[in-house]
Amino acid sequence: MTTTGEEPPGALLVRDLAQVATPSGSTAPLRGAELRAVELLEDAYLLCDGGRIVEVGEMRQLRAAGEVEEVDGRGLSAIPGLVDCHTHACFAGDRVEEFALRSGGASYEELHAAGGGILSTVRATRAAGERGLAIALERHVAWMLRAGTTTFEAKSGYGLDRETELVQLRAIRAAGGVATWLGAHAVPPELEDADAYLDFLLDEVLEDAAALADAADVFLERGAFDAGQARRYLEACRGAGLDLRLHGDQFTEMGAIELAIELGARSVDHLEATGADGVAALAASDVTGVLLPASALFLGRPMPPARALADAGASIALATDFNPGSAFCESIPLVVSLACTQLGLAPEEALSACTVNAAHVLRAANRKGRLAAGFDADVVLLAADDWRHLAYHLGGQVVHTVIRGGRIAWNGPA
Ligand code: NIG
Ligand code: FE
Repeated sequence: MTTTGEEPPGALLVRDLAQVATPSGSTAPLRGAELRAVELLEDAYLLCDGGRIVEVGEMRQLRAAGEVEEVDGRGLSAIPGLVDCHTHACFAGDRVEEFALRSGGASYEELHAAGGGILSTVRATRAAGERGLAIALERHVAWMLRAGTTTFEAKSGYGLDRETELVQLRAIRAAGGVATWLGAHAVPPELEDADAYLDFLLDEVLEDAAALADAADVFLERGAFDAGQARRYLEACRGAGLDLRLHGDQFTEMGAIELAIELGARSVDHLEATGADGVAALAASDVTGVLLPASALFLGRPMPPARALADAGASIALATDFNPGSAFCESIPLVVSLACTQLGLAPEEALSACTVNAAHVLRAANRKGRLAAGFDADVVLLAADDWRHLAYHLGGQVVHTVIRGGRIAWNGPA
């Protein structure tokens, strides 16, 4: 997603749109009743210039613009560019063999314990080299873009050695992503245990990783890192200036929510195993709960308690978790469909969760996630005259055109 060295984009007018839909207001994150407040304009236009949105209005208000590139929006609806705030898109190879084994009954945790799972992607990622990994990531980013993602986060965590972790972070930045250092994803085979691995990470990788990443993340789970180890890693990362994220309550409740709140994390992600106390604690905090229903679906696991979280007033976001093992899915539109069919969220809540609130997790809500003057000109045109087809069209090609930074970045078949 780099635009380095290019001229700033000129004026772009998307006219005659059936609808423009955007989360309303100007604050972030959105919670409670605000989460479902979507502003709707019909027979509308969007004017962008210099990579920013300049005007959003109804066609009858459109004044003659000067020299502009025009896009015909008839029959289409516009929503903000989608923000995927949790991916593991920087990986080499795939795990289709493991997928076939799982379809025959093997569990994700069993495969992980047997040296497969995450560690098989670690082997492929280490072997790919810097160039091979960059090519794989560019391919995945192109898939995400076609699905309407104009801003993405991606994590390291498939290197688990100094060189490959840093190669991953550099590749993510070079591809225009927000980089998260997930050094504490799994213990690599060459180290005896999680404590020895953390010694290595904090002594030999942290300083350079902190210069490349915006945040740190840890897999707090049975068979990965426990709460004490997660605390040690996260406190050191916070000391190095990184924001904090946690993979928590995916299979078991091991204190991730309490730790996230205590350490002032940006988010705690997954939450498929979260109970009523966790819901209440998260709702009373500033930590965003990032829900990953594609991962729960792909692993045949229970869905996270999204409705309870939203009703309790929690800040929630939606993301894909795109990775080769637990969610080989780059599509936020599919995640939005799952949110409305499996999590009990309204289309309006789901839209806010994958735009404004996801941007909030990435500290970008002042620039991204809304269609309003001054925001980055990141826009998805949907192939429908009602924006709710974003949720309604289950697994279909609902994305018609993607505008990123004021330029047409993808234009697919209607
Ligand atoms: O978010 N849970 C840990 N990490 C990823 C999966 C990574 C993988 O299986 O490769 C997740 O689900
Ligand atoms: Fe994840």
